[in-house]
Amino acid sequence: MNVSVLGAGAWGITIAQALADNKHNVAIYDVNKDFIDSINNGTHPFFTENKIENIKGLYTLKEALDFANYIVICVPTKYTRGLLKEVNTLLTNEKVFINVSKGIEPDTSKCVREIVYDEIDKKYIRGYASLSGPSHAEELIQRKLTLLVSASENKEIAKEVQLLFANGEYLRVYTSSDVIGCEIGGAIKNAIAIVSGVLTGVGLGENARAALISRGILEIERVVVAMGGKKETAYGLTGMGDLIVTASSYNSRNFKAGIAIGKGESAADAEKNSVQTVEGIRAIEAAYQIGKKHNIELPIINAAYSVVYENVDPIKAIKGVLSRELKAE
Ligand SMILES: NC(=O)c1ccc[n+]([C@@H]2O[C@H](COP(=O)([O-])OP(=O)(O)OC[C@H]3O[C@@H](n4cnc5c(N)ncnc54)[C@H](O)[C@@H]3O)[C@@H](O)[C@H]2O)c1
Repeated sequence: MNVSVLGAGAWGITIAQALADNKHNVAIYDVNKDFIDSINNGTHPFFTENKIENIKGLYTLKEALDFANYIVICVPTKYTRGLLKEVNTLLTNEKVFINVSKGIEPDTSKCVREIVYDEIDKKYIRGYASLSGPSHAEELIQRKLTLLVSASENKEIAKEVQLLFANGEYLRVYTSSDVIGCEIGGAIKNAIAIVSGVLTGVGLGENARAALISRGILEIERVVVAMGGKKETAYGLTGMGDLIVTASSYNSRNFKAGIAIGKGESAADAEKNSVQTVEGIRAIEAAYQIGKKHNIELPIINAAYSVVYENVDPIKAIKGVLSRELKAE
């Protein structure tokens, strides 16, 4: 198959490598020309110890779209709409769109599926799938065992994308029909991962982190269900699985940004100081707005919102959550 990956950052190059390992013809495009130069020279600035092979770096979006029938979207969500508007003006035939990014659009609180259907003319969409799950680029690029979920409302497309990515070596892929559940879970876990970092930043330990993960997944479930996803998806690879891997790892930029915030940095500075996009900061706002709109109880998200957007001291916010009325689990 011919596949083009849009976005050649940490995850884009990692996904491209997995596709190349599966013997697909793989092209990758990025607005950052230095990344493309580097890829064409057999390396990537984020993974200098890895050899990049059999991936064609392209300098224009048009070339990338003309090259493939499968288009993988891998840019931070704040850029997705702009990119897709441009994609729509350049398309000449139908494609399968595969989203591998995790986030909610700032301002609209829309997930990538909705942005694709907003911006791409229906006649150019043969199918849409979202590929998500517990996955650090730093591990998958080294071909370390990873499990993902290919979610599409169309069973055949979910299967097609499963077969595109899965290999018997290090990447196992399941299918799901719950696109909303997978995309919302993947986005909101970044919000909880920031909180996990904050707890570490203020000096709390593993007891607090385990408690946060257990209570945080409940909030993810509530948001998933409010948005029309399935409760059980929140407890699968794309929800609980991804939360575990993100909320406790120094590979996670969200966890690291949370630590900086816990140590007193502002959220804006923590975001600015991260080389890569910290999607969780926007996810906190999106989850907070969804909670208000649907009148759902999200004490952790609300406390995170107060710290990130209202400059409330993290210790005060934690005390606020703890001082709520005592109740049964
Ligand atoms: N890094 C991971 O381990 C990982 C794992 C799973 C999912 N994700 C998700 O994948 C998405 C991308 O993450 P990343 O780690 O690759 O981020 P990154 O910051 O490393 O890379 C993003 C890339 O997108 C490019 N870009 C921005 N706008 C563009 C446009 N209009 N056209 C083409 N390229 C454009 C940037 O130049 C950059 O190279 C995020 O939503 C993230 O949550 C990341």
